[in-house]
Amino acid sequence: NKSEHYSTQVRPPGTSRRIPQTIIIGVRKGGTRALLEMLDIHPNIVVAATEVHFFDWDENYVKGIDWYRSLMPFSYENQITIEKTPGYFTSPQAPERIHDMNSSIKLLLILRDPTERVISDYTQVYYNRVESHKPVQPFEEIVIKNGALNTKYKAIQRSLYDIHMEKWLKHFSLDQIHIVDGNTLIKDPLPELQKVEKFLNLPSRIMSSNFYFNQTKGFYCIRSDGRERCLHESKGRPHPVVNSTVLDQLYSYFREHNSKFYRMINHSFDWH
Ligand code: A3P
Repeated sequence: NKSEHYSTQVRPPGTSRRIPQTIIIGVRKGGTRALLEMLDIHPNIVVAATEVHFFDWDENYVKGIDWYRSLMPFSYENQITIEKTPGYFTSPQAPERIHDMNSSIKLLLILRDPTERVISDYTQVYYNRVESHKPVQPFEEIVIKNGALNTKYKAIQRSLYDIHMEKWLKHFSLDQIHIVDGNTLIKDPLPELQKVEKFLNLPSRIMSSNFYFNQTKGFYCIRSDGRERCLHESKGRPHPVVNSTVLDQLYSYFREHNSKFYRMINHSFDWH
């Protein structure tokens, strides 16, 4: 059982803490937690339990690489360490800093339809505000200002994948960045995970028997090490129904950015 040793923090013989050979860089609300938890099924993968924010938060970056390493789980030599911090993808500093650490690192990026991502982002902030008793605004009031799309809205800017990707491609080659289709990972996780196994040069170990569809949650859950578990209730929350005119405005705003992104990565997705 892999999860046993890093909760107790006792170093099992033959293991050490290693700097990640792979990082899930984002995108926020793309399905980063699902991807990390599903990859953790693999016997040759160990994952950092929490979001580390080393490369995107200056106050952490100044603590240095040993601090970063100290947050990684113990691993055997034949295991790959993975951490995920969704904020890296949109961080101006992260690409160069990660490149400085390891210029041949393999990066994973999970994306979903940019409009869907905006709504998911809004929904997360909405629930956080409700929980801390702060006032909330309907989606449409945030997204439309003075009759036009509020392109300053952070959630919209985070969905401009072409703009963020451009910064990564200044430091990394395209074949170092594997893009996982977040929409597919929801509907049919195994094929997406098998592509990741290939990308990481790992033997195929994740099986269809590692997943079962939970009708109540409406998502796939994980069966591994004799245990069954779904992601936290904050993952896979119902989204608000959005006014269709506003939806169309978002779709058309992202269309050009998406086309540019597809050309950049030589691949297209069936986003709106
Ligand atoms: P929603 O909650 O908006 O549906 P992240 O972990 O990057 O924050 O992404 C959260 C998203 O992961 C969820 O967004 C959900 O759609 C998606 N997801 C993918 N597979 C999932 C799964 N098996 N269980 C729950 N959520 C999953």
